[in-house]
Amino acid sequence: MTDILVLNDREVASLVSFAENLRMIEQAFSDYSLGRNAAFPVVREAIPKYDGIFGIKSGYVESQGALGFKAGGFWANNMSRGLPNHQSVIVLFDPATGQPRALVAANFVTQIRTAAIGAIGCKYLARQDSRILAVIGTGQQGRNQLEAALQVLPHIEQVVLYDQNIASAQTLAKDIAHYPQKAVVADNPAQACQEADVIITATSSFKAIVMDEWIKPGTHINAIGTDTRGKQELDPLIFARAMVVVDDINQCCYLGECQHAYDAGIITRDTIYGQIGEIINQGKKGRNSSKEITIFDTTGVAIQDLATAGYAFEQALKKGIGSRITI
Ligand SMILES: NC(=O)c1ccc[n+]([C@@H]2O[C@H](COP(=O)([O-])OP(=O)(O)OC[C@H]3O[C@@H](n4cnc5c(N)ncnc54)[C@H](O)[C@@H]3O)[C@@H](O)[C@H]2O)c1
Repeated sequence: MTDILVLNDREVASLVSFAENLRMIEQAFSDYSLGRNAAFPVVREAIPKYDGIFGIKSGYVESQGALGFKAGGFWANNMSRGLPNHQSVIVLFDPATGQPRALVAANFVTQIRTAAIGAIGCKYLARQDSRILAVIGTGQQGRNQLEAALQVLPHIEQVVLYDQNIASAQTLAKDIAHYPQKAVVADNPAQACQEADVIITATSSFKAIVMDEWIKPGTHINAIGTDTRGKQELDPLIFARAMVVVDDINQCCYLGECQHAYDAGIITRDTIYGQIGEIINQGKKGRNSSKEITIFDTTGVAIQDLATAGYAFEQALKKGIGSRITI
């Protein structure tokens, strides 16, 4: 018989703040690039009958003793059923014995850990004097990424929002109308990108939305939406003149935004500048000049999920939060 702690999304949200998560995700990636943490091969497969994508991301964050996996994915039609499109759960195991220890709802974990890595991309690669931020795709991730970027880019004056569902962009603009930054809804992606210093793409698109000719020197792009084979948000030609940084080189070349430029021979594993952990731990320098175009491709790595869930588990034990089941 094994005792398992169960944490729901609300409980996890009460245990992990954005600032703490930012710190632990930086640490997890820094350690990852030094070979201290592990991410095992990703499973990510289509369930065409239900327009779903099911995946498993597993790994080990040594410093937190967090061994386990996140299983779930993205069901594009859920919204019309009143459900979030993203669905997932994390299972944590005792690394010493293999016994299951916790079952952690992972929708909040996915939101906060993806927001954190987006903030890290902006912090290390965007120009610190960036004033115009474009967000392409104003669903759940678009919202989270916007909030995260504003935490680390103190000089943003204007936010330009674009979504193929114009009502979604208008709603987000209304929701942030009280922010000091001016919120503008663009009619098309070109209008959103042409003046932007930072572009965040957070759509579920399967074809390029952001074109090379719209990108001015000095722009930073956080490519968030492409986390599956076949998805695409960026014109691969942008990669030919950009410094490309990835969360994980294997994942990005296979199922991240890099896949298209990689498959077309525009980039190789050698021309990718590095993994974000190498820049965090100062093994490599970040942006080299104010004119450079930078791309951060993030696909979501198991260490983000495990670091976040492991921390929530530790805090829940200390504070007596969660329910217990025995299996
Ligand atoms: N990198 C990561 O770690 C990570 C983590 C979570 C989600 N994701 C991915 O991010 C994407 C967005 O996730 P979400 O939860 O915000 O989904 P969502 O369904 O809430 O939002 C997606 C938005 O993109 C818009 N969109 C889709 N295609 C578009 C196009 N061609 N042009 C303009 N807008 C378009 C939709 O109208 C919608 O508003 C998904 O592909 C998801 O798999 C990545």
